[in-house]
Parts: sequence; structure tokens; C-alpha cells
Amino acid sequence: MAPPAAELILIPFLLLLLCRWDLLEVMAATPYPHGGGGDDPLVGASKRYEGSSDLVDLRYHMGPVLSSAPLRLYVLWYGRWDPAHQAPIRDFLLSISDPAPPRPSVAEWWATAALYTDQTLANVTRRVELAGEADDAAASHGGSLSRLDIQRVLAAAVAAGHLPADHRGGAYLVLTAPGVAVQDFCRAVCGFHYFTFPSLVGHTMPYAWVGHSGGRCTDVCAYPFSLPSYMSRSGMAALRPPNGEAGVDGMVSVIAHELAELATNPLVNAWYAGEDPTAPTEIADLCEGVYGTGGGGGYAGKVAVDAQGRSWNVNGRNGRRFLVQWLWSPVAKSCVGPNASD
Ligand SMILES: *[C@@H]1O[C@H](CO)[C@@H](O)[C@H](O)[C@H]1NC(C)=O
Repeated sequence: MAPPAAELILIPFLLLLLCRWDLLEVMAATPYPHGGGGDDPLVGASKRYEGSSDLVDLRYHMGPVLSSAPLRLYVLWYGRWDPAHQAPIRDFLLSISDPAPPRPSVAEWWATAALYTDQTLANVTRRVELAGEADDAAASHGGSLSRLDIQRVLAAAVAAGHLPADHRGGAYLVLTAPGVAVQDFCRAVCGFHYFTFPSLVGHTMPYAWVGHSGGRCTDVCAYPFSLPSYMSRSGMAALRPPNGEAGVDGMVSVIAHELAELATNPLVNAWYAGEDPTAPTEIADLCEGVYGTGGGGGYAGKVAVDAQGRSWNVNGRNGRRFLVQWLWSPVAKSCVGPNASD
């Protein structure tokens, strides 16, 4: 998190952003696979590189990264959640800084990405803890949320004292249950990250939303555990989800994507590629759809498969396994990630 002095410097920047709500459009995990992006190497399907590329210039733009040790994560479960679906997601979050699971581990995945983005003045924290959870099972703001509603939902949880306003090292995850519709969910986004507006939530705090795509659009938001029909028709097979539920395991992958971007680009002025700060391509965007060696273009890459035929690439706590996407390394100039073997 930014120290107070940095917050002052950021005010003009924040004001600029407040005037441009549409910017939020871009800080998102998009449905995958999606259509081509023409000749622009940073747009659409062509922006994913498993191999190295000097065309991509993921750079540090001097803004704060999430560096508090620990970073305290707060989860708001919105809508009616099945506890069996919450358990793997919770275990994933608890695994981010857990050194116990065997390699390749979730913690190793996180630490590697953090290491590649180390700066003299601002390093992404290696310690992430699940500091609090709250339920909004009654879906206080209805079953169909706008993007701004995500902040209103958070504001209500903070105002009711269900979650603290932890603006000195906290970050928030709003996770919507299967029945909940969110603006642009499925059509253009599977999750996004941004920061809260002081006028709504009282402080500037990083947050992300990720939706459960089960029963709604697993074919575009739970890749590679579910595929759009044109891909299945062409003979491609979906991978079996490591925790048995495409909607949940797909969500873990999107959560991993959003957390990596939240940590490295929380105020949208730290790590991103491209010259246009209003349309940044972030650390996970560059490797969407890549889960192992050779991945990209509709092939997830070489990943491990367990005795039940379930695919995974990292170990987590409670003996769980997950499949997380690779992240762009500005050092290696390629996507990097866990290489799990069978
Ligand atoms: C960030 O990490 C690097 C090593 O990767 C270290 O040299 C540097 O001092 C660290 N910066 C801070 C602020 O801790």
C-alpha cells in the first residue's frame, strides 16, 4: 500500500481516474478464448505469448504495488454460496503464503511473480493472509449488479461492521454466487480489479470482483475446464477441474489472475504494458489461457493429470491442487509459471 505521502501525490491521478469510470473496462479478466485482435500484439487473442517476445514491454510506472507484509485479504461472499464451493476457494487463498505444500506450490507461483517485479523501492509482498470473511447471503443489492454496485456492496459491508475498512494494507475480494448477474459478466469480463472511491467506501482500497460462472457461462469464464462449442466441435477436450467443479476451479484461476494484477498494479499506475495508461495490459492479461509449457491459442499447455484424470499445476493446503495461469515476467520477457509433471 502507498504510504500517506504517496497518497497525496496520487490525488491528481485519482481525480483523473474518477472522471473516467469507463477505464474500469480494461482492468479485467476477459472471457477466454476470445476473438482475434488484428495486428496489434497487445490486443485480443494475439496478445498471449507463451514464448518470449521483445514486443511486449511490461514496465514499472512508479506507482505503488501492494507491499504490506502481510497483505490482508478480506472476502465478501455475495449471494447464496454453497459451502462446498467456498472451501476450495478459501484453501487457495490460504495457500498463497503457505510454505508447507510440496512444489510446485501456490506460494511458489506467487513468489516467482513477485520476484520478477521486485523494485528497489516497491516490492510486491510475499505474505498474503486471509484476514476476514463476510457473507451477504441475502444479496443486499439485488441479483443483478452494476460495476459500481460492487463498491456499494463493499461499502455496505464496511458500514455494517462486517468487514473493517483496512486502508493500510488490506485488499478486498467480492465473490458473487452462481445466481448473481454482474454488468458485462460473461459478455466482456469474468472478473476485474480496481480501487474503491473514497466518496463511496470512505477510502481508496484495492479490490477485485470475480463471478461464479456455473450455470451461466462456464464455456467462456471457466476455460480450460469448459470450452465453447466451436472448440469442442473441432475436437478439443475440456480439462477435468482439480476440485471437481468447472465453475469453482475456473473461478480460482480468475481469482489468481486478478490478485496478481491487483498486487502489481493496484492503482493502475505501477506494472503494465503498452503506452496508454487508460488501456493497460497487465501481468496476467499477457498470459491468459496459458497454464503450462506450449500453452496459448486455445491449448492450455502441458499440465499434470492426477489418477482421476483431473488437471492441475500447483499444490495447495489440505492436499488440494489447483490450476493457475502463468504470468508475464518482465525479466524473462515471456510467460512463466509452474511446470507440474505427472
Ligand atoms: C526488493 O527486492 C530486492 C531483491 O529482489 C531487494 O534488493 C530490494 O532491496 C527490495 N526492496 C525493498 C524495498 O525491500
